[in-house]
Amino acid sequence: MNRDRELDAGARAHFEDPAYYAQSYATRKDDVAYYVRIAKKHDRVLEYGIGNGRIALPIARGGAAVVGIDQSRAMLADLRARLKRQPAELQARITTRTGDMRRVRLGKRFPLVICPFNTALHLYSREHVEQWLARVHEHMEPRGELVLDISMPILEDLADEPGTSYSMRPFVHPTAGLVGYREIFDYDRVRQILFVSMCFEPKTRGTKPFMVPLAHRQYFPREFEALLHYNGFDATAVHGDFEGGPLTQTSDTMVWHARRRKK
Ligand SMILES: C[S@@+](CC[C@H](N)C(=O)[O-])C[C@H]1O[C@@H](n2cnc3c(N)ncnc32)[C@H](O)[C@@H]1O
Repeated sequence: MNRDRELDAGARAHFEDPAYYAQSYATRKDDVAYYVRIAKKHDRVLEYGIGNGRIALPIARGGAAVVGIDQSRAMLADLRARLKRQPAELQARITTRTGDMRRVRLGKRFPLVICPFNTALHLYSREHVEQWLARVHEHMEPRGELVLDISMPILEDLADEPGTSYSMRPFVHPTAGLVGYREIFDYDRVRQILFVSMCFEPKTRGTKPFMVPLAHRQYFPREFEALLHYNGFDATAVHGDFEGGPLTQTSDTMVWHARRRKK
């Protein structure tokens, strides 16, 4: 596969099955509570990578209006289906735009811009980050805040031999039924991109095995701070969890807060 197609697939395939996405992350709640807490202080929020509304729906329930950008039609369709089951005033608080986070221009500014759960890891190069941060800059009020979380590179995983495979327990997939599951890791040390092949082996006779690719850029903490800095932002805090704790040697998440740098 050519390199651009490989990255495009790694940014899209996992989000073509919202039912599996929802099942996989149903117990991930700390990040939701964190973003809801921050959004409570604001009336309007822009979410990059809104997906099927795992975070946007609880934010909207808290009272803020959310505008969400996402390139996945499947995730946005699922969000619309979920919204239909909500009261009218909540439906009115969420609007979406289909498109690439590096390109969409809304012509509006927000006091809070969020980019939760590794969405920024789909920005694979310096140019991608620069394009996106230029959009964030345009969409943020002068005293607004950007909050995002990305996973911390785990050196042991990145040091694996290419093709190292991890088998997990079989589970019931929402569409494929009972499946065996393993992940194959392949880290490109030059581009700093972790390619994960999610391999599903259905136990139902006649159902074929299938593989879903996922590609995550690995941003090291000081590298990400520099990217914010050289694109007009000051990192005001970085936490290692969703309780506001410090980033430490054992943190597996980075929660960045940034503001536009005053000229
Ligand atoms: C891990 S999901 C996060 C969804 C939601 N925020 C959540 O926390 O559940 C990442 C989302 O980013 C979207 N995405 C990835 N690359 C994108 C891009 N370049 N432009 C717009 N959306 C993108 C995907 O379609 C997906 O819905």
